[in-house]
Amino acid sequence: MPLHEQRRAIANAEAAPRPALSPKRKVLEGEGNELRMNDPSAFDIPGCTLTLNASLRERTTFRVPARAARLIEVARSDALPQLFARDELARDDILVLGGGSNMLFTHDWPGTVVAMATRGVDIAEDRGDNAIVRCAAGENWNDFVHWALAQGFAGLENLALIPGCVGAAPIQNIGAYGVEVKEFINAVEVYDRRTRSIEHLSRDQCAFAYRDSLFKREPGRYVITQVNFLLPRTHALRIDYAGVREELAAMQVATPDARAVARAVVRLRMRKLPDPVVVGNAGSFFKNPVVESTKADALGAKHPDLPRWQVSDMLAKLSAAWLIESCNFKGLREKDAGVSNQHALVLINYGNATGAQIWALAQRIQHAVVERFGVLLEPEPIVV
Ligand code: EPU
Repeated sequence: MPLHEQRRAIANAEAAPRPALSPKRKVLEGEGNELRMNDPSAFDIPGCTLTLNASLRERTTFRVPARAARLIEVARSDALPQLFARDELARDDILVLGGGSNMLFTHDWPGTVVAMATRGVDIAEDRGDNAIVRCAAGENWNDFVHWALAQGFAGLENLALIPGCVGAAPIQNIGAYGVEVKEFINAVEVYDRRTRSIEHLSRDQCAFAYRDSLFKREPGRYVITQVNFLLPRTHALRIDYAGVREELAAMQVATPDARAVARAVVRLRMRKLPDPVVVGNAGSFFKNPVVESTKADALGAKHPDLPRWQVSDMLAKLSAAWLIESCNFKGLREKDAGVSNQHALVLINYGNATGAQIWALAQRIQHAVVERFGVLLEPEPIVV
């Protein structure tokens, strides 16, 4: 559904009377509760649907086979307190799934997968030069970026075409072409399973870092329901990252604006990264490792073409893709698990790979890079 229709839908949903939520209600205990959690037709939380023994294959961009004992789709975030008040869920292993673009299942999930399917975006506060824009967790990230551009907001253009949903963006602080999403996040609304309430976490509370955040460090505690962005209407374009300026020149754009930068980024990504719609993958499988500058200098002296960037006085980031390519993994394929021949950081499911096969290949890469360069590559996706 296009975003303008979704906005209308959310407005209608908000106007409609909502069933009273009564988290203190204790009707959900005991055998009746067990029965409802194992009987989709008796599962009765508004805005939530239950599927037993659900396939997760089409719910992650790796498209590896995996099943969840229970899958609960949540279309209304105000259902979460009632949902998590269930004794069964309190005891269960919960995994929250968004667009599935940063997750590798190496086995079935024995507990409950909660899939956020909430929709809606609106301008909560227009301040002229900028605005607070609220977006539901289940919205598609790329649709949101293009909606924001169409509304005249700038800032997110370098993050166009990143797969996944809006609620996943803060988890790993998505980034591309010299921009990280944290710069534009004002607050993140979450359901906190520890306090059992909806909370607003400020940008500082989210403790963002390179491909990292509070949410990644405390897995299972927070369910992100909505992200509040602070989006400027004018913003200095970032076109210095390798390739962006050149792409704009190739597009014959003399005076680029945010929309032109987004088009350039889309073209670059389509050329450089395998499309998850066509071939299973989760983007970069490893983070670029951050090492002590002395180590980076020593490696640089031995391998002058190793790309590296100083990130602080003491630390430098190395190109994981270069390290992997140097160990001859680029383009390698074992059965249906492989390393992209377009980009060495991207692991691929050519069709029938299992998550375990992909993970075994990832571990082989880790070992080879440690042996040769003494650097441990950390996976970027969540490996289950
Ligand atoms: N390189 C290689 N071999 C390759 C690809 C790249 O040696 O196969 C070297 C090149 O020298 C290149 C350098 O690595 O100049 C950097 O490559 P690139 O610009 O593609 O960036 P990256 O550091 O490999 C990061 C993000 C990507 C993001 C790009 C562009 C991480 C882990 N990855 O990749 O994000 O799209 O920058 O900004 O930080 C993702 O997180 O899933 C992702 C795709």
